[in-house]
Amino acid sequence: MLEAAGGRPQIGRLVVVGIGLIGGSLALALKAAGACREVIGVARRQRTCEQAVGLGIVDRAVTGLREVLPQLEPGDVVFIAVPTLAVEQVFAELRDKLPAGVTVTDGASVKGSVIAAAEKIWGQVPDFLVPGHPIAGSEKSGVTAARDDLYIAHRIILTPLANTDPDHLRQTVLMWQATGAEVLNMPVEEHDEVLAATSHLPHVIAFGLVDTLAHDAENENIFRYAAGGFRDFTRIASSDPVMWRDIMLANRDAILKAIDLYSANLASLRSAIAVGDSDQLMGVFTRAKAARDHFTKMLTKKAYTEPMQAQEVTFIAQPGGAVSGRLRVPGDKSMSHRSIMLGSLAEGVTEVEGFLEGEDALATLQAFRDMGVVIEGPVDGRVVIHGVGLHGLQAPPGPLYLGNSGTAMRLFAGLLAGQAFDVTLTGDDSLSKRPMNRVADPLREMGAEIETGPEGRPPLLIRGGRKLRGIDYRLPMASAQVKSCVLLAGLYADGETSTTEPAPTRDHTERMLQGFGYEVRRDGACATLRGGGKMSAGKIDVPADISSATFFMVAAAIAPGSDVLLEHVGINPTRDGVINILRLMGADIELQNRRSVGGEPVADIRVRQAPLRGVRIPEDQVPLAIDEFPALFVAAACADGETVLTGAEELRVKESDRIQAMADGLRILGVDAEPTQDGIVIQGAGEGVAFGGGTVDSLGDHRIAMAFAVASLRARDTIRIQHCANVATSFPNFAELATRAGLKLQVA
Ligand code: S3P
Repeated sequence: MLEAAGGRPQIGRLVVVGIGLIGGSLALALKAAGACREVIGVARRQRTCEQAVGLGIVDRAVTGLREVLPQLEPGDVVFIAVPTLAVEQVFAELRDKLPAGVTVTDGASVKGSVIAAAEKIWGQVPDFLVPGHPIAGSEKSGVTAARDDLYIAHRIILTPLANTDPDHLRQTVLMWQATGAEVLNMPVEEHDEVLAATSHLPHVIAFGLVDTLAHDAENENIFRYAAGGFRDFTRIASSDPVMWRDIMLANRDAILKAIDLYSANLASLRSAIAVGDSDQLMGVFTRAKAARDHFTKMLTKKAYTEPMQAQEVTFIAQPGGAVSGRLRVPGDKSMSHRSIMLGSLAEGVTEVEGFLEGEDALATLQAFRDMGVVIEGPVDGRVVIHGVGLHGLQAPPGPLYLGNSGTAMRLFAGLLAGQAFDVTLTGDDSLSKRPMNRVADPLREMGAEIETGPEGRPPLLIRGGRKLRGIDYRLPMASAQVKSCVLLAGLYADGETSTTEPAPTRDHTERMLQGFGYEVRRDGACATLRGGGKMSAGKIDVPADISSATFFMVAAAIAPGSDVLLEHVGINPTRDGVINILRLMGADIELQNRRSVGGEPVADIRVRQAPLRGVRIPEDQVPLAIDEFPALFVAAACADGETVLTGAEELRVKESDRIQAMADGLRILGVDAEPTQDGIVIQGAGEGVAFGGGTVDSLGDHRIAMAFAVASLRARDTIRIQHCANVATSFPNFAELATRAGLKLQVA
């Protein structure tokens, strides 16, 4: 049906029934793309026909559809772009007169009514009809509003039925793709419900609001003073009234449902205003602002804390360079998560400075908003949390989506196990593959009821209303997430809960609980708390994340001529393995201005290039540097001699299998890197250039991506790093800061 002409897809003729914004724009786009042989317009009024021909929108135009039907052949397409309720009349004209092999599709905003009209006319929906709806438009209407770029990068929803002919469906998809649009399929009912909420309801409200103001006698000057807010909010009330009347009538039930939901919300806002309920107003406004900000980012294709397609990001790192200057990397991820969690469960208002505005910590923040906590910000790293106390969380409206964050999911499991409500925790593809029995097992021992997906993977369903009892838990692996999960569940348990870890792991949970006035007894590897206490709000100053600083520490250590000062970095002794290991390798690292900030040790870290040597990494350093190995492997590949890592099997269950991912990437760059079951053996190149170039896959793991960007400093050729979008989980401004420091990094 579809032939290639000069390499371009071609439909035969396009017949556009209704030459307004939607139909005219399709005609213009296909003509511009050279994607059809001829465009014939059909309009009721002769004047429209003349205009459409005059404007070059169609090649010819007629006032009666019946006239053109006999001329059509297989491969031609009829596109119906009339108001929703007029579609039936067009179907009636097509019946019995449409030649075989011609595809019929439409652009009406309601699909249920189009299906019903087809059934009425043909007895059943014919297989050549492909119902569709372009999600594009403008408040402008009519033939003069048509544009050839209206559909570029917009979505077209098709709602094919079981009997829709695949050839006609393909023809329709290719037609829309030729306009630059993205085509997707959806069931009819889902389309009508989604559109009722996202498009039809806003139009009702906009029309209604403008009409209210226009008719309000006391406000006769209202439009004179109405400014940007009014203009932005009501733009769509300039849309075509006939089209919108039809949509309201055609999608009646779904729109009524949406209006009822909105009316209830408006009524509760009204009463909050009436009684001066500031908390409720802040709750609604901060949640709405967060959602709108997120949507704004989606529109500019920057965000991905959503079960949506992640945007593809590639790092292109040119070889060579050195790093220098004073840099402040973003706030610590582990502490940022915990600041929101404990701040929400504390009594009173907690102020956080230095909060990491990365996607992982933002997922935690959003989850607490979904459970009714009012959280202001983040604005420049400042967040204000209106704590609800240990028993003040509310059931969220749906599953909590935690993106890429293992920390969020495992710590949430603990603190939600003792709530009164059920909750489901979900995440992205990477998180959905990570092991959760390590938290589900001890929580079940405490009396929690938790269901996991197959093989103990997410999603987690946590049943509410269970009574927890304290346990004495010996961790089978060195994991701060598991330790924190059990301790957080312990807040809700009867009696004492203790954890004993096989090796020291980050202790931010214990420190922050103590900072909030919750007693935690610590005795070597053992931490104990008693359930039933309470936390009081406080101030939290989150230092820069040593895990993010690591990339610049390694960069400075390996690139000749480098000298960087990393400001205000957290150097908690349970996190400083990277400093110890790099020093063991011969790195020149100086800790300046050591101080304590909010119970956490902090310093400015100066690193200058120095020759590195291969080492056997002491196993006791592994948990203290657990997130830093991707960068440390790059340092090892530049060092003189062999580096051997053992006792690090945990690296295989991080955001990716970091041993395999790094070994694969390093080998592509020509490095001899041999993975072992619990570590890796790397032969370092010593002084001089260490790497070739090539394309490496970060597997969507933020730290793998950043490590290979750093490797470019010692490469001969360009390194292309694929799947880097998740760098924003922990270090949203990495590329910017890296470029400022001296890396030759482009983001594509
Ligand atoms: C974290 C603990 C570590 C670490 C992760 C953050 C935390 O995970 O890798 O990035 O904030 O508790 P494990 O507990 O799985 O070792």
